[in-house]
Amino acid sequence: MRKNIIAGNWKMNKDLNEAKELIKGIRKGVKKKKVGKNKRVIIAPSFVNLNTAVKRTKKSVVEVAAQNIHEEVNGAYTGEVAANMLTGIGVELVIIGHSERRTYFGETNEVLAKKVDTALRNKLEVIFCFGEQLSDRKSEKHFEVVESQLKESLFHLPKEDYSKIVLAYEPVWAIGTGETATPEQAQDMHAFIRGVLEKQYDKEMADGVSILYGGSVKPANAKEIFSKPDVDGGLIGGASLKKDDFLAIVEAV
Ligand code: 13P
Repeated sequence: MRKNIIAGNWKMNKDLNEAKELIKGIRKGVKKKKVGKNKRVIIAPSFVNLNTAVKRTKKSVVEVAAQNIHEEVNGAYTGEVAANMLTGIGVELVIIGHSERRTYFGETNEVLAKKVDTALRNKLEVIFCFGEQLSDRKSEKHFEVVESQLKESLFHLPKEDYSKIVLAYEPVWAIGTGETATPEQAQDMHAFIRGVLEKQYDKEMADGVSILYGGSVKPANAKEIFSKPDVDGGLIGGASLKKDDFLAIVEAV
């Protein structure tokens, strides 16, 4: 059965001391709230703080993800980080395809397909992000856009690989804008995504994949969004930087 997941994407925030503080707060909070086996709590600090995050969450249910990897396994790529460098320090997950990577760093569906392959081959679980632009939604192309993002970056994979993939639907117009998709808009898209997976693979596989929603999730709107049957949790940006907000969202799923 698929799990509910709350993942905090810290983006380019928190220096070492701030990261330590937030990790401590989250670790204590999830312990107190007795987060059980059917719920996963993930944090994604910047590369430089991953080692600390892994060490400081070892004895807790909190899992640690990176925010990116390079598609090649190693080589002359100044400034980049390889998958095995992450697994080498105990990181078990990586976010791939975030809209900020697509927009500011030119990551295409094709490059993302390579990153997904590299991650899976190196035993990293993938949180794969995708979602339409505002103009796509206005022109009613959002379903089409999302389907092609999935098709071009993921559909070359055998269905067995999806036990190591979490999907995160993040409509670009809702990221960091304070404007959330309505629970109905999220549910419609998530049900569509599950339908696309069923068409490409089969129902059992489609039912087993966790699909997260991301985009201005806050304590005030989390419960309503997560109450939808095909929304299995959230990928949280701004609100994951505040311990109390993040823990409230963990509680809401
Ligand atoms: P916000 O929650 O700040 O809108 O960011 C969402 C996001 O991009 C998570 O990856």
